[in-house]
Amino acid sequence: MNPFSLVGKTILVTGASSGIGRAVAVSCSQQGATLIITGRNEVRLAETFSMLEGVNHLQISADLTLADDMDKLVEQLPKLDGMVNNAGIAKPLVLQLTETEDVNEIMQLNALAPIHLTRLVLQHKKLNKGASLVYISSVNGNNCAYIGSTIYAASKSALTGFMKGVALELAPRGIRANCINPGMIETDLLKDGAVGQEELESDRLKYPLKRYGKPEEVAYAAVYLLSDATQWITGSSLLIDGGYTLQ
Ligand SMILES: NC(=O)c1ccc[n+]([C@@H]2O[C@H](COP(=O)([O-])OP(=O)(O)OC[C@H]3O[C@@H](n4cnc5c(N)ncnc54)[C@H](OP(=O)(O)O)[C@@H]3O)[C@@H](O)[C@H]2O)c1
Repeated sequence: MNPFSLVGKTILVTGASSGIGRAVAVSCSQQGATLIITGRNEVRLAETFSMLEGVNHLQISADLTLADDMDKLVEQLPKLDGMVNNAGIAKPLVLQLTETEDVNEIMQLNALAPIHLTRLVLQHKKLNKGASLVYISSVNGNNCAYIGSTIYAASKSALTGFMKGVALELAPRGIRANCINPGMIETDLLKDGAVGQEELESDRLKYPLKRYGKPEEVAYAAVYLLSDATQWITGSSLLIDGGYTLQ
């Protein structure tokens, strides 16, 4: 008996077309899960799809900021044993230069989309008893803050607050909800040029383990929280930050 196995479980992963979401989808498939992967970019989503082990996976493209797309996604879903709400954006912005549209864009994808997706899968009875809901939050807004990402911090702490309510409300059905709070992870989010390479290199050295995390290191935590090994863990936030917030 392997308590970490995902054999027989059907799992939805949002933002699966790159970075952490891709790694989560691939790791879940390696543990035997059937995946439904979603994202907007069909080419990158298909790349992830080709990396999945096993059969019977499904890819559905959807923009989670559009109500119609979300409704169509939920309609197509089979019954789920797990859902990883991972899609998110980080937009470096000081508050003084932040416009209404910036606030709406970040809150819409990082906080409102997982709220509505969770609400809809519940209302459409798409969650099996014992399902596990995982939300990719962040150290930012929960364990620390960074200058230039105040709205992002607000979106991620909103997500964590939401997760706690969900955990309490759905516990009688045996459905669990937990967050993962990563520190900086090496993904395309870092390659958008917003932060220079030199600055990134000196920032990496601020981590006690002297590097940023890898997408797989977040994925393994997601596998853990989705698995039956964590049947008594709900409402928690798992910190994965190479010791960053110890200091
Ligand atoms: N990287 C880090 O250092 C770090 C640290 C802490 C937390 N996180 C969180 O981890 C999550 C994944 O980040 P990442 O680093 O893997 O970033 P990433 O590589 O940029 O991935 C973001 C994912 O979100 C999807 N997405 C973006 N806008 C979307 C929309 N409107 N509708 C549906 N999907 C959308 C993207 O797919 P499409 O473009 O195909 O839509 C992509 O698959 C985010 O929630 C982020 O806040 C990241």
